[in-house]
Amino acid sequence: MILARYSRKLFNPVNLNKFYSSYSVPETTSFPRRIFSGIQPTGQIHLGNYLGAIAQWVKLQQDNEDMILSIVDLHSITLPQDPKILSNNILEMTATLLACGIDPSKVILFQQSMVPAHTHLCWCLGCICTMPRLAHLPAYKEKSANLKDISLGLFVYPVLQAADILAYKATHVPVGEDQAQHIQLTQDLARMFNKRYGETFPIPHCIFTGGDYSRLRSLRDPNKKMSKSDPDPKSRICLIDPPDEILKKIKKSVTDFTSEVTYDPENRPGVSNLISIHSFVTGKTISQICDEVKNFNTGQYKLQVADAVISHVGPIQKKISDLLNNQDFLVQVLKGGAEKAGEISEKTLQEVKDKLGLQFKRETVHKQILNL
Ligand code: AMP
Ligand code: TRP
Repeated sequence: MILARYSRKLFNPVNLNKFYSSYSVPETTSFPRRIFSGIQPTGQIHLGNYLGAIAQWVKLQQDNEDMILSIVDLHSITLPQDPKILSNNILEMTATLLACGIDPSKVILFQQSMVPAHTHLCWCLGCICTMPRLAHLPAYKEKSANLKDISLGLFVYPVLQAADILAYKATHVPVGEDQAQHIQLTQDLARMFNKRYGETFPIPHCIFTGGDYSRLRSLRDPNKKMSKSDPDPKSRICLIDPPDEILKKIKKSVTDFTSEVTYDPENRPGVSNLISIHSFVTGKTISQICDEVKNFNTGQYKLQVADAVISHVGPIQKKISDLLNNQDFLVQVLKGGAEKAGEISEKTLQEVKDKLGLQFKRETVHKQILNL
């Protein structure tokens, strides 16, 4: 009973965070710190993705972390994709990551489908993962709810994610809170594998990206998070929105009936969301901003936020468009990354195959046969 209550509590992402950091630390110490994260090449990157994920990766890169980043195209085909749009999106995502500051000479950046170990390891892990464990995952329940026919890929998605992480023996995974249960599955599979076949994988744990930026809110409904899948494009600012579009979206953003500008995410989520965005793009602290704009009303403040966002994303947009004009370079970056990622993940795969008994060691097989 107590255990049931405890495990229910753990499913709250906030509790999970505490759980990971306290529980997993001793288990990861024998493996060197390595960071792995992935992003799907679907839809246009919005400020939520940028502030909540990409900018955090750039920060980790600046801290000289051993980091591997993947554009997880195999994850994106778990839902139907138009092939032409998908291949464009892969290049656009590559250009976006580079334009935002990801440096392929400092971190490994690659396209998931170029590295075969991911799907191979996914199969091996799938053979120790039970179906009820996957059926309980909230992301699966959410995505499959509107589908008539559910693909096997969508169901197995989290096992592929575990394979992504474990193929590199990553110890830390920066993700949004919505991914907590997928990382918990990765931990469970790593523990199960280690128990059955001997210590092979570290138990990776989440680094939840972000403080004030971990959940940018929708501009149309500040109770929801800013999301690629929101049917209303005015709910999000995309990194490649032209200036007049950004201005329009911020001007129309839903705030409240108080005209002062104060930071109170609980009671005033709309205006607080704008202050978070403003703080990120200017590098100023929230209290500095509140002090500077104390004589502004929200209408005037919105213009200032729009200005700051436009000046911040302008140079990024220019870099994205320059990079997109040089497709060969982008493909080269992805191939170079895949080569490095391939070397590391192939080594893990060989170790896994060996432990599973899929590899021949001449002497032992010979002796076993003779003993029979
Ligand atoms: P998605 O758009 O769901 O594919 O998410 C890609 C990455 O961006 C994940 O690491 C998310 O946690 C992060 N992310 C998505 N939406 C937001 C948001 N509104 N605020 C902060 N981070 C976000
Ligand atoms: N499932 C993640 C998302 O939708 C993307 C992802 C795939 C990922 N593999 C990963 C994230 C491995 C971190 C680590 O955002």
